[in-house]
Amino acid sequence: MTSEPFLASTREELQAALGPRRRAGSRVALVPTMGALHDGHVALLRAARQHRDAEDAEDAEDAGAAGAVVASIFVNPLQFGPGEDLSRYPRTFEADLEICAREGVDVVFAPSTQEMYPGGEPVVTVDPGELGDQLEGAVRPGHFRGVLTVVAKLFGLARPDLAFFGEKDYQQLVLVRRMSRDLCAGVDVRGVPTVREPDGLALSSRNRYLSADERGCAAVLSRALRDARAEAAAGLPAARAAAGRVLAGVPSLEPDYLEIRTPDLAVVEDQRPSSPVEARILVAGRLGSTRLIDNLSLTLGPPT
Ligand code: PAJ
Repeated sequence: MTSEPFLASTREELQAALGPRRRAGSRVALVPTMGALHDGHVALLRAARQHRDAEDAEDAEDAGAAGAVVASIFVNPLQFGPGEDLSRYPRTFEADLEICAREGVDVVFAPSTQEMYPGGEPVVTVDPGELGDQLEGAVRPGHFRGVLTVVAKLFGLARPDLAFFGEKDYQQLVLVRRMSRDLCAGVDVRGVPTVREPDGLALSSRNRYLSADERGCAAVLSRALRDARAEAAAGLPAARAAAGRVLAGVPSLEPDYLEIRTPDLAVVEDQRPSSPVEARILVAGRLGSTRLIDNLSLTLGPPT
């Protein structure tokens, strides 16, 4: 049986919901979102819930220590650039609440902008470092400063033990993990694999902007990544070229970047390794006015 999640829209309400659980020794798992929830978000909620339920089973003798899953829903203005889609970003709050109830979320934190930024734009923000200006950051200046700042605030408010982020936004996942380590946030940041449509398109709240024609082409990104993976034994240049050929086959796609990096998003030094090396391929582009991103793990170099 599912019970309605506790809905907190202020910091005080969030503390009221979490305080007693925390005092009883339970661990808090946070899933930050901007709402418009889809099955990609649901995968994060399920990963958090599984973790909670496994923990509850371990703590079965201590009935007070049930863990808590907190989902936050907040469209963060700080991570949107001037020409971006803040005003038209999809907002589907009632449906989001239903999904949270169905997925067994304990607390939904849905603050207003005023609640999150009572003093207006914050003066002190989180600097994402060099990686913040690369890949997505090169196309969206200031984006990761906005993301890390709001995630730091959510970590401060919910004080989670764990937080779940999608591999879909791989650079975000790497940066949040880095922030938690570098700033001693003490949050165990877990990545969850990308959920895809049957044709390979990664689920995204922005997919609903695509016209029927654009939707027909949109799987080109994941196809390009899969072709790169298939060529990766021959090394980075061959893998990259394979992906490039697939992208070039869809002229309406305007690519922003196509790069192969290490799993931490550093530059790959040995492009043709003689034994297998883990890497990540990342791609972004525009179909009409909609930006799409995707990424995949691959193994460079011949199998041993
Ligand atoms: P949002 O785009 O709503 O995504 C929330 C979380 O869902 C992110 O961790 C994202 O990577 C994950 N996600 C989205 N699509 C997914 C998919 N197809 N498969 C798996 N996971 C997926 O990312 C943000 O919000 C914001 O930047 C946020 C972290 C909430 C800070 O404002």
